[in-house]
Amino acid sequence: MNPATSISASIIRKTKLTSEIFSLWVKPENTESNPAPGQFYGIKPPDNADLLLRRPISVADTKNDRLRFIIRVTGKGTAALSRLPAGTKIDILGPLGRPAPLVYNKNVLLCGGGVGIAPLFYLARILAPSNRITTIIGVRRAEDLILVNDFRTLGARVLISTEDGKKGIKGILTDLVPRILDKMAEPVIYACGPREMLKKIDEIAGNLPVWGFLEERMGCGTGICYCCGIRKKTGGYLRICREGPVVNLKEVDL
Ligand SMILES: Cc1cc2nc3c(=O)[nH]c(=O)nc-3n(C[C@H](O)[C@H](O)[C@H](O)COP(=O)(O)OP(=O)(O)OC[C@H]3O[C@@H](n4cnc5c(N)ncnc54)[C@H](O)[C@@H]3O)c2cc1C
Ligand code: FES
Repeated sequence: MNPATSISASIIRKTKLTSEIFSLWVKPENTESNPAPGQFYGIKPPDNADLLLRRPISVADTKNDRLRFIIRVTGKGTAALSRLPAGTKIDILGPLGRPAPLVYNKNVLLCGGGVGIAPLFYLARILAPSNRITTIIGVRRAEDLILVNDFRTLGARVLISTEDGKKGIKGILTDLVPRILDKMAEPVIYACGPREMLKKIDEIAGNLPVWGFLEERMGCGTGICYCCGIRKKTGGYLRICREGPVVNLKEVDL
């Protein structure tokens, strides 16, 4: 894996996708970095936000050396990033982490809870030409849905769960998983979202491996500080920033 370098990048487009989620297309300067699905960048909040740590954000897509990030405002750092106008330069470190394993000629199930659907879009774009893709998107409110048409444009079948029942089935994403898995031959499952959701999908999947995109609070983001560990079932810890963030959920204690 190439050592990650800190890069200056210009925000070329910022779009509000929902009341809490925005999309940033950035153009890195002087970089040959070519992130793979599952990898992420440590984005430095702007200096005037008085925040030290980089915020880990997954790559949601790429195009002509440009990177797309889709970010939900959850606290000070993401709020500061959401206020930056197009044209601003930001400091990004990456690509970080191990890419998701790629498959060919398979039935692929992608499960994205909330903004967790973002990194699965880049994965879907890479997998779409050589696999059959079903995507389940689960959100609390219908107005929180993102990327539905983008997945459809890739040729993916899209199913939706909303807790308010205004789109798709009324319920949570994991209500749909058993119904879909029943109809899929030898599925390969990737999931990104809250820990509880990942845990439940792994249970439902039984012996099938589930590639979970894990999140943990991060310090360095590069494997040095050991603050992002998750316990392995065989003992010891796995660093989410280094051996993850995409992990076979059968191998870790969620
Ligand atoms: C590998 C990885 C990829 C991610 N990809 C995305 C993405 O594509 N889109 C997106 O909206 N969010 C993503 N997140 C979550 C995002 O990093 C946090 O929401 C963000 O760091 C919160 O920062 P804050 O300052 O707004 O919130 P605060 O709560 O004020 O943050 C305080 C500190 O906690 C850390 N922190 C808080 N929540 C998380 C979290 N869930 N994961 C990791 N660190 C956290 C922050 O980095 C910061 O150091 C990802 C997290 C990881 C680990
Ligand atoms: S964040 Fe420092 S080792 Fe993972």
